[in-house]
Amino acid sequence: MLKAFSIVFVFASLGFIANHQFAHQEKSKTRPADQMIVTKIAADFASMATPEDNYKNYCAGCHGEKMDAFADRKWKHGNSELDLFKAIKLGYADEGMPGFDSAFTDDEIKDLVDYIVTGIKNVSRYNFKDSVRSNIFKTESLTIRLDTVVSGIGIPWGMAFLPNGEMLVTDRGGKIFRVTKSRELQPVTGGPQVVAQGQGGLLDIELHPDFKNNQLLYFSYSLGKKTDTGDLATTAVMRARLNGNSLEQQQNIFEALPYSKTRHHYGSRLEFDKSGFLYITVGDRGNTFGNPQNLKSHGGKTHRIKDDGSIPADNPFVNTPGAMPSIYSYGHRNAQGMVMNPATGAMWVNEHGPRGGDEINLVQKAKNYGWPLICYGINYDGTVLTEKTAAPGMEQPVLYWLPSIGPSGMAFVTGDRYKSWKGQLLVGSLRFKYLDLVTIKNNKVVKEEMLFKNIGRVRDVRMGPDGYIYMAVENPGTIFRLVPVKG
Ligand code: HEC
Repeated sequence: MLKAFSIVFVFASLGFIANHQFAHQEKSKTRPADQMIVTKIAADFASMATPEDNYKNYCAGCHGEKMDAFADRKWKHGNSELDLFKAIKLGYADEGMPGFDSAFTDDEIKDLVDYIVTGIKNVSRYNFKDSVRSNIFKTESLTIRLDTVVSGIGIPWGMAFLPNGEMLVTDRGGKIFRVTKSRELQPVTGGPQVVAQGQGGLLDIELHPDFKNNQLLYFSYSLGKKTDTGDLATTAVMRARLNGNSLEQQQNIFEALPYSKTRHHYGSRLEFDKSGFLYITVGDRGNTFGNPQNLKSHGGKTHRIKDDGSIPADNPFVNTPGAMPSIYSYGHRNAQGMVMNPATGAMWVNEHGPRGGDEINLVQKAKNYGWPLICYGINYDGTVLTEKTAAPGMEQPVLYWLPSIGPSGMAFVTGDRYKSWKGQLLVGSLRFKYLDLVTIKNNKVVKEEMLFKNIGRVRDVRMGPDGYIYMAVENPGTIFRLVPVKG
């Protein structure tokens, strides 16, 4: 559009100058200077490149195809217009950034700076000025009071509601709590021994769909193993029976293979579907090229098992030689959010991208979500990971975030307490410390609204059986109930 406009403008100018010249010629016959202007403009026109083109041709090779992902970086030399101008013109030779003084005119450099600044703006819309001064928040359609249910939990990773309305909460450090009706925190004993390092520890919690009758609970966590070559860890799921405030009959029903030396990308959300199958997300464990596209490993997948850990006969890869039979979908990076849409029964996950490119995906049987072959982000160090954002046989996300928001727990709004939000999706943002309200129509995102800006790292969000939304925030670990305020 801009390009078309500039071309029209240049043609118009050429026309103007030509007429102008003609008028002069009548008066004074020879005006070589005018002829020179025409020649110069024609030459500029021929060499005219947009900043997009210049970025693609001169910068993308090192900084990545996606300029706005490049803009989402930790700046070493500042990101004011002057800083950018200097960096491009003079370069930082000893860091590997060439100077472009001889390749570009100052105007071309300025255009490039403007182009990059638009990418930075895309990032800076998350620099909330808002500080949290009151517990009343006006959103576009509702006024919400944040009611503090409990505080003093380290990193509340997962929440689950008991049939009597009480809540169980996991703390990533390894503790389990019951939150009573009188808002007292009671320790629950007998949970798994966890490797509480890096992103690992005690992670999600889920009730058996028939908990009322069998008191079964499921925990995902980082399970450790000592070997000759070092201490390894993996994502595991324990099932146990709750008796009062203690767990009994603990049994590991899922153990992701292979174990890894790393302490990140465990995935670990748990969710039952309407048929009583348990879904588990397992992250790529940092083994980008070894796990997600490899059906012989559990990493970078969504898994589907029966409530006792056995494999459903209709899982997609049960007959594929060598494939892990629990795999339901693959090509995932690190899914820390998963929820069944109660209206449709479909399973939704969100996952962390690299720098840029966090995604929401609608998980379907046997489908490949593309990591790391397609992706909307770039590497943390700014290097290119893949130029491709789409490929045949690979699924596109329902939504991707540039910059990364660090999505975590998510929930569909149900019931009638929040009429204007009903059916919409809530996603916690760890990085930008807000709750994202995502409006979805026919599996397409039509709108996003940022709620409770600067509230803290939102780790989990769930609908309670009382019809209220509950939100778990880190540091200090707090659980809020969202109470709509009239008027
Ligand atoms: C040969 C590879 C290469 C090319 C080509 C290149 N850069 Fe760089 N650039 C680097 C490296 C390496 C750095 C050092 C900082 C880092 O670690 O990314 C850098 C740094 C920068 C910085 C400073 C970043 C900061 O953190 O302060 C800017 C701005 C920048 N480049 C813009 C550009 C633009 C615009 C272009 C295209 C005209 C470009 N670069 C082309 C490799 C390259």
